[in-house]
Amino acid sequence: MNFEINHEKSPKEEVKRFYDFQMQRHLESYDLDLDDLQDKEILDVAAGDDLVFPISATMAGIDNVYSIEPKRLFPPVTEFSTPEQPNSYQEELNELRANIPPQILAKTQEKHVRAKVENLPFKDESFDLIVSRCAMPIIFFPENKEIAHKAMDEILRVLKKNGEVRFFPLQKEVFLGNEIPKKFLDLKKHTDEQAELSVELLDKLQKANKIKYEIKTVNESEIFYDPDIGGIGSPEKGIPVKFIEKVVIITKI
Ligand SMILES: C[S@@+](CC[C@H](N)C(=O)[O-])C[C@H]1O[C@@H](n2cnc3c(N)ncnc32)[C@H](O)[C@@H]1O
Repeated sequence: MNFEINHEKSPKEEVKRFYDFQMQRHLESYDLDLDDLQDKEILDVAAGDDLVFPISATMAGIDNVYSIEPKRLFPPVTEFSTPEQPNSYQEELNELRANIPPQILAKTQEKHVRAKVENLPFKDESFDLIVSRCAMPIIFFPENKEIAHKAMDEILRVLKKNGEVRFFPLQKEVFLGNEIPKKFLDLKKHTDEQAELSVELLDKLQKANKIKYEIKTVNESEIFYDPDIGGIGSPEKGIPVKFIEKVVIITKI
């Protein structure tokens, strides 16, 4: 993440800045404006154990943001970070979370349910908008096809007619370098396969007149993959990779 706490500012200011930053990031991912969220019943599927989007939206004055996530919320930083192996992102997140206004936290948690996408604890046609970030493989990737289909059925069941689902990202990587390590090619094969299978399921639902959908590119960026560190490296050492991230927009017919 590109957010660093400014320790010279008050915790209150930094909490606001962090969640404003996150809200902007999520809106860009979903290709939405803040106004698109007003007066809607919204569900965040696989919201993460830190509820970043529901908290950001509640702070931005958006009510009615429900969320589901199977994991226990707000794990202590000790689960991720030790003095030998610090996890600075998690440490910063925990530091910020301690300063969220209690009424915001209470409002967000009130609308949170510990649950899985394949079994949603909501009535039919409850939501106008369902969002999910960085969880498409969970919903679609049919290592267990039955669960993938059940998950989509459940999402469409709790969505109102003409309601929208926005999944981010449907991802593609394009390698621009010559010597690409096999490990990375295997990873690409995996994400390509995920994207293909997601589209296959969406086509099937569209043919059955249950949905219509479109796929829109919302981010294109270039990174340098350094096989030695197994992550993002410097332009001098890394292999150039173009990331194309798309949002899938589904409308229930
Ligand atoms: C990569 S995280 C994304 C979290 C959050 N949406 C974000 O953007 O930071 C994927 C999340 O999916 C959750 N998950 C895994 N299996 C799930 C399931 N069957 N139903 C719902 N969520 C699931 C995981 O617990 C994890 O928090």
